[in-house]
Amino acid sequence: MTAHRSIMADATVTFPDSARDIFAAAYPDQPVKLAHGLVGHELLNLHALAELAERMPAASVEYNLGKLPLGVRPEDTPANGLTLGETIRTIESNGSWAVLKNVERDPVYAALLDTALAELEPIVNAQTGPMLHREAFIFLSSPGSVTPFHMDPEHNILLQIMGTKIMTVFPARDEELVPAQKSEEFHNGGHRNLLWQDGFKARGSAFPLAPGEAIHVPVKAPHFVENGPAVSISLSVTWRSERSVAESELHSLNALLRKRGLPVGTVSPKPERQGMRRFFYRIMRKLGA
Ligand SMILES: [Fe+2]
Repeated sequence: MTAHRSIMADATVTFPDSARDIFAAAYPDQPVKLAHGLVGHELLNLHALAELAERMPAASVEYNLGKLPLGVRPEDTPANGLTLGETIRTIESNGSWAVLKNVERDPVYAALLDTALAELEPIVNAQTGPMLHREAFIFLSSPGSVTPFHMDPEHNILLQIMGTKIMTVFPARDEELVPAQKSEEFHNGGHRNLLWQDGFKARGSAFPLAPGEAIHVPVKAPHFVENGPAVSISLSVTWRSERSVAESELHSLNALLRKRGLPVGTVSPKPERQGMRRFFYRIMRKLGA
């Protein structure tokens, strides 16, 4: 009975103790691989995900052909000619890529996200304050799909559930990879895809991911993803923090200043401490800037 209970308890652990220790040493600035326990979870197979996708609002799903070059302008992304349900059920052979956004709006997936993040919350709280705006995304990709070079505004852990992929992660805050003006546009609704140059490749670190492995991706660390030879399912659990919110505010302030021909300010590695500039940005927003 005791052994049985301990197996049941283990089944609900998303990040084992060893993964939490590794995460604690890396968060928030370093990309790092972690182990996770969600492989084989009943909510994360193709059947369950096709059903989830079909009950989600159309605005929360995005899908397209999966074999893309590393750099793609958003308007050039090709459609695959299938419905979303068909795309997921036949993803083994249709050469596609799909993302289900904000799956936490579905109560059972909300519980999955809450359980996973609760295990990390004490570590996050100690480093970057309360976990804000928790969201979950599920990525499905055909063999050989590529997710082009881009950045995301959240603290993110991507958990590989099925199939393999290689995520190549680049340093955040490198203005040769992401010019300041691109960061400013990004925080004002600009697209997440970044301009790619072949010379960048050597600056990235490649992290191969197999089922049961996860990767912590720091806020706005540029990355691209190459799918392996089988269908891939990944779950991304994300949150914001006072630091990520402050970073966004300071780049938005710089965008306003740049538009007016005024000198822009530095965004420090600890932007949450730049209280005066954040206050100034909020005043400008209130004044309708
Ligand atoms: Fe991403």
